[in-house]
Amino acid sequence: MAVLGIESTAHTASVGIVGEGAEVLSLVSDMYCPPKGGIHPREAANHHVDVLPDLVHRALEEAHVRPGEVDAVAFAQGPGLGPCLRAGATVARMLSLAWDRPLVPVNHCVAHVEIARVLSGLDDPLLLYASGGNTQVIAYARGRYRVLGETLDIGIGNFLDKLWIELGGTFPGGPALELEARRSSGELVSLPYSVHGMDVAFSGILTATLALHAKGIARPDLAYAVEVTSYAMLTEITERALAHRRRDAVVLGGGVACNERLRAMVRTMVEGRGGTMFAPPRSLCVDNGAMIAWTGLLALRAGLTVPVEASAVQPRQRTDLVATPWRAG
Ligand code: ATP
Ligand code: FE2
Repeated sequence: MAVLGIESTAHTASVGIVGEGAEVLSLVSDMYCPPKGGIHPREAANHHVDVLPDLVHRALEEAHVRPGEVDAVAFAQGPGLGPCLRAGATVARMLSLAWDRPLVPVNHCVAHVEIARVLSGLDDPLLLYASGGNTQVIAYARGRYRVLGETLDIGIGNFLDKLWIELGGTFPGGPALELEARRSSGELVSLPYSVHGMDVAFSGILTATLALHAKGIARPDLAYAVEVTSYAMLTEITERALAHRRRDAVVLGGGVACNERLRAMVRTMVEGRGGTMFAPPRSLCVDNGAMIAWTGLLALRAGLTVPVEASAVQPRQRTDLVATPWRAG
């Protein structure tokens, strides 16, 4: 069995093909990076329209799979930027019709969870999902993935990106801040620490960091303080969720989960409690077509296909509103 998945929720257009046991047969991606400033949805969508046909060809070629051997075409239905989602959905519908294969809609956040879960080999872990647009602690309960805690304002990655651009850098900010923080003197400047129960907020840290920058605090020291403070917040809410849900395993997902410091902090917390922590390889933490293909395969097995007429994208689709019948058993 092989399923082809298309990811296009935001900046990254990506096509992946996975097999029955979640083996990634191919994964090819192309990220839209604006020369300056943040992402304009229409420009990103135009980028996706331009690159997706070639990505599909390359994914088939690299996987040594012919169109006739693809069992279904999965696509990210939401959440995401409307124009970007529509670009990916249009390509998926076209392939489904041309190849006469079922079309499978996939929730992007659930896909981050499922790829991390299958790679970890853990049956029922908590997920810390830290990406550009989303920051959530997620656990499965009674038929759905439930959001136990989340950001009250912006996603952590969007916060890091915006901050880095304000400090004179370019998108994406998260990896650049990680390198910048390594050049810090190690002196920890104080920033607002904003945890509310199992929720977090980042806009206060953004304002405070920019104010400190205006006062002349060096950029590496700011980067270090931002990482330590905001990742400590994520570690704290993850620990609270573990304690309340009586779980002992955590998997990481989303682009910010590429970060070494975040991985180390969560690992120290989880292992200190006698539990297990797993983070997927970076190519499968960031937005990627393989996670859409894998979740599409799970959905296909559960019979969750849609006709083209009923495959509208859902830019605001929430993690806890989508059915996940494959988890029931
Ligand atoms: P979603 O739709 O799930 O919110 P997304 O569109 O933001 O996803 P991802 O690829 O999951 O896309 O995440 C991208 C984010 O990850 C960007 O904000 C980027 O700055 C951040 N990021 C990537 N690498 C790192 C890193 N090493 N450290 C911190 N942040 C990182
Ligand atoms: Fe994502």
